[in-house]
Amino acid sequence: MCGIVGYIGPRQAAELLLEGLRRLEYRGYDSSGIAVVNGHGLKVMKAAGKLSMLEQQIGDRMPSGTLGIGHTRWATHGAPTTPNAHPHTDQSGRIAIIHNGIIENSTSIRKALEARGHTFKSETDTEVLAHLVGEFYQGDLEDAVAQALRDVDGAYGLAFISADEPGVLVAARKGSPLLVGVGENEWFVASDASPLLQHTRSVVYLDDGELVVLTRDGYRVRNLQSTRISKPVNQIDWDLAMVERNGYPHFMLKEICEQPESLCNTLRGHLLDDEGTSRVHGLNLSDDELKQVGRIVITACGTSWHSGLIGEYMLEEMARVPVEVEYASEFRYRNPVVDHRTLVIGISQSGETADTLAAIREAKRRGARTVGLVNVVGSTIAREVDGGIYLHAGPEVGVASTKAFTSQVAALALVTLRVARLRNLSILQGRQFIEALRRLPEQISEILDRTSEIEALADRFLKTTSNALYLGRGVNFPVALEGALKLKEISYIHAEGYPAAEMKHGPIALIDENMPVVFIAPRDAVHSKIVSNIEEVKARGGKVIALINAGDTEIERLADATFAIPETLDLLTPILTSIPLQLLSYYVAVARGCNVDQPRNLAKSVTVE
Ligand code: G6P
Repeated sequence: MCGIVGYIGPRQAAELLLEGLRRLEYRGYDSSGIAVVNGHGLKVMKAAGKLSMLEQQIGDRMPSGTLGIGHTRWATHGAPTTPNAHPHTDQSGRIAIIHNGIIENSTSIRKALEARGHTFKSETDTEVLAHLVGEFYQGDLEDAVAQALRDVDGAYGLAFISADEPGVLVAARKGSPLLVGVGENEWFVASDASPLLQHTRSVVYLDDGELVVLTRDGYRVRNLQSTRISKPVNQIDWDLAMVERNGYPHFMLKEICEQPESLCNTLRGHLLDDEGTSRVHGLNLSDDELKQVGRIVITACGTSWHSGLIGEYMLEEMARVPVEVEYASEFRYRNPVVDHRTLVIGISQSGETADTLAAIREAKRRGARTVGLVNVVGSTIAREVDGGIYLHAGPEVGVASTKAFTSQVAALALVTLRVARLRNLSILQGRQFIEALRRLPEQISEILDRTSEIEALADRFLKTTSNALYLGRGVNFPVALEGALKLKEISYIHAEGYPAAEMKHGPIALIDENMPVVFIAPRDAVHSKIVSNIEEVKARGGKVIALINAGDTEIERLADATFAIPETLDLLTPILTSIPLQLLSYYVAVARGCNVDQPRNLAKSVTVE
């Protein structure tokens, strides 16, 4: 949500900033802008719409200067117009600011500033902060920013430059991610590592309440009360190639196709074949502590919440621990019943989702042990939980989550296996589970070899529809939810996921010859039940597309079309059934001419609540 990049060093800033914004665009694409300082002052350029609009506007008039900031926006306060685009400036026009987050008391600050003669060009909370800093400014940007931030409530990742200090960039963090890139005689700030990878892999993660001052000689971190803070420099193990499309037409397709490898990476080093269990040291929980867990609460948002639901089925079935799965946005504002015997698992690809982070903090406050299943190393959630498992799925750039989802399910399988073996699962059952896990990457490859079949299904059943229904039972009910979400997100077709048997209590009224119904129906414990549900849809003229196991002649006879997935253990089927559904939504969106990687109104990393 909103991408931030800043640069100070010997090179021309504008080009570096634009290139950085290209890599950050997945965080928001409502507008973009840059500001550059040189010996002659401050040059701000911005445009509504995608980054290409800004690039067009700049053309060959690239502003010169070796200090600058750039921003790509996901609108919160104010419509996605050029005046509302960042960077914003103060009353004098000499201080520029970019911001990710929300200033909650901006209305009252704005009123006070207006009373003192300030006039505003935008509706944004960010411009208010720019003016406030301008008021405090007396030749020392660092000092003015620190003073202004003491008056501000809300969340922010911020960067400031001033025409009067061409050798200083000030940045600050509270609630929105920010890191410093440490290069050779050059320094960056950014909201995530993607714009830095080309230049450096050494980063310093800022924590809430910290402010960093970058100069041409280096950087120093302090808090708002001027206390110096010493921070470690971390090395990122992602490289540039991992954030490139590598010949694929879209990041989403690339990431779908990476799943045999990303799944291997999630499982690597965690499986103990002989003992039929998993090694999950990262959880920082001893076997005794794991045995004593009385209840598990899983909390997450979006696609990660769906993987949590699958985790609930796995943990309850195999480990016999009661599990609840909560939307993080709901959990954080309820009065949740958690205590020291509750294990709270937060799931997040980005590790930055504001609601998930807040839910974890709330759980900690109430004495629960918290663990995170997180993809982005060094992200805020990863750093705040008591323990966790990194997914190691590699960077996910496509806004619609795909490979992170299957890796989350795999990580949940690892936790399940450990807890189950400590309780009631036999060594033999544990080994069978491991064998099945190990076969999954190969089985995913088998599915990916048949993408043209899915493309044909997309073309035949979904391309022109306005609605679709996804139905599944048991552990494949969350897959139905995820399949429907994927279709909504990137093709803007209204889709609903439902437990197949619940259809009778409402959605059945929607079924007619125009309604495609996607059934997730592998040959599992509830197979015969789902066959009846398919009959019910067919009896009402609905079109049935079913994911089945090969040789399921019963469903083949009933359905309008089928796609066969390889056999695995019932509880692991979601890792296979979700792949054709990802592809289905991808091909539908492409056929409809949608922007697959940057669907309208969405952002990859939602750092506001
Ligand atoms: C956004 C993304 C989704 C993602 C959700 C949770 O809505 O568009 O793809 O599932 O956030 O993100 P997280 O990073 O916490 O998994």
